[in-house]
Amino acid sequence: MPSRTLPGWTTRTRVRCVHSSLSLLKKQTGKTAAEQRWLQRQLKDPYVKASHSQNFRCRSAFKLLEIDDKFRLLQPGSSVVDCGAAPGAWSQVAIQKVNSAGSDQDLPRGMVIGIDLLHIPPLEGAHFLSCHDVTDHATHAELQALLPSGQAHVILSDMAPNATGFRDMDHERLITMCLSLIDLAEKVLLPGGSLLCKYWDGVLAHRLQEKLSSVFSSVRTVKPDASRKESAERYFLARMYRGPVK
Ligand SMILES: C[S@@+](CC[C@H](N)C(=O)[O-])C[C@H]1O[C@@H](n2cnc3c(N)ncnc32)[C@H](O)[C@@H]1O
Repeated sequence: MPSRTLPGWTTRTRVRCVHSSLSLLKKQTGKTAAEQRWLQRQLKDPYVKASHSQNFRCRSAFKLLEIDDKFRLLQPGSSVVDCGAAPGAWSQVAIQKVNSAGSDQDLPRGMVIGIDLLHIPPLEGAHFLSCHDVTDHATHAELQALLPSGQAHVILSDMAPNATGFRDMDHERLITMCLSLIDLAEKVLLPGGSLLCKYWDGVLAHRLQEKLSSVFSSVRTVKPDASRKESAERYFLARMYRGPVK
């Protein structure tokens, strides 16, 4: 597992997070069996432990770090749109990789814009559009106004709807959200740009892959080690944006 120091929560926030896990454990009586299993898994998970020790807002940071280590997606100076950014772990990774906080004066300074329906606590080096819907055209317009020349090099999406527990329904809702990213790409993604999006595997995944392949030269499926084996979670990494189909 990588060991890095990144911008992130204050020590006080991290301590509060660890304490709340421990106090939750103590209060386990009264929890449902599913809640107890979830809590036990969290407490044993090496990525959860590492996210605390490395100041990440959540374990998902390691998924993006792994993907970026392998595919070199995020370059210093790049503009990145992080869709479904709360609580902000992917943005923490992106800030460091594109140098949007200007931590390295010898490298070009990039930009990170995070969007979420929820509030995203601030981070130096990121501009957050909290309480915004990524699928909303008004959000696209705000984004265009913020991005340099209205354009981005990379769109990241770790968005997920609240799971209902009905696998097919959750799968379909997430695929629909991913398809809306193709509209977003049409408005803001630079030619040659990349899109990384999470989906839950299922019958409609091939439709999303086909749509992505119609506008990107390369589309591959990625399942990082940090993504739990038993989970249907996968990512499509689409590269070399060609622009909208005419
Ligand atoms: C798994 S979390 C993202 C974690 C984030 N990548 C991180 O590393 O901190 C998924 C997020 O997607 C957000 N989301 C779901 N639908 C959305 C939408 N239509 N617009 C914006 N955000 C959305 C949820 O509010 C939730 O915070």
